[in-house]
Amino acid sequence: MSERLIDIVTVPDHLGIAGWQAMAAPGLVAGAAGLRPINPIEHGSLPSEPATRPDAVELSLYVEPQWRRRGIGSRLLAAVGADTARRHLVAEVVAGSAGEAFCARHGFRRTGSRRHDLLTYCDVHHAWLGELVDVEHPGYRLNHWTGELADATRVEELLRHPSRPGNAVLSAAEADGGLVAYAVAAVGGLPQRRVRQYGPSVLAGHRGQGLGLWVSAALIQRLREIHPHVDEIEARTGEDDPGLLALHRHLGFRHLRRTRLYELALP
Ligand SMILES: CC(C)(COP(=O)(O)OP(=O)(O)OC[C@H]1O[C@@H](n2cnc3c(N)ncnc32)[C@H](O)[C@@H]1OP(=O)(O)O)[C@@H](O)C(=O)NCCC(=O)NCCS
Repeated sequence: MSERLIDIVTVPDHLGIAGWQAMAAPGLVAGAAGLRPINPIEHGSLPSEPATRPDAVELSLYVEPQWRRRGIGSRLLAAVGADTARRHLVAEVVAGSAGEAFCARHGFRRTGSRRHDLLTYCDVHHAWLGELVDVEHPGYRLNHWTGELADATRVEELLRHPSRPGNAVLSAAEADGGLVAYAVAAVGGLPQRRVRQYGPSVLAGHRGQGLGLWVSAALIQRLREIHPHVDEIEARTGEDDPGLLALHRHLGFRHLRRTRLYELALP
């Protein structure tokens, strides 16, 4: 079939995600694009950290391999640009992939890179993990929370909500002045048995005391209690963060892949 016969159609918003599809025939989807709001918690949100741009949305774009290099990805991107009021798109693509070439072609600006590491529960020594969690950290206490990540844009706000069933599990270290470290994991957007971890993040002034390892170990333990079906944790790290990489390696995470972050300012 010629790509000219492909229609780009909008799909109704679902759970706050706007969508477009490239239809090769009724029921035959050759590619899709989506926009979803960015939750700053996914990018680190302790009080010392800058907030994510409020006008940015996260772009996902995918074309089935047999339909690639026929302009369908470009048409989907054009439809997104024409339909959305948001003028700032953020995309995460696998390093060295067609996605990077596509971003370069369309004038995206590269803003960073990430390393993804994977922890599999069968590699976790649970007694050792328990010992890490039980280590005393004088002046600090552990707190846990469960609920929906979308309920707030800052971790402190999440902790003000009572715990309830939801997609997110949070382990936090608090001192008398409030939150000082956290790690959070969210179910969804990945294969069902895998969760995505954000952090650990430790407030400047409280670093070097093992709080990152403490909240990470607590989260790994807590997550399994609340979501026993979860087998794997995928953690994202800025590639320029050797301390965090070493912490993940210590806990048994293994390298999975590298991705790059791109931004596009729409006219
Ligand atoms: C990235 C992706 C969406 C591109 O879809 P597509 O329909 O093939 O894109 P287009 O045909 O519109 O390509 C537009 C231009 O991007 C560049 N490009 C796309 N794929 C490329 C590749 N594999 N190698 C080199 N350049 C490439 C080219 O400049 C191309 O123009 P040309 O074909 O005239 O040379 C598709 O490869 C894909 O689904 N990849 C996996 C998911 C992904 O990486 N998404 C990116 C999110 S931004």
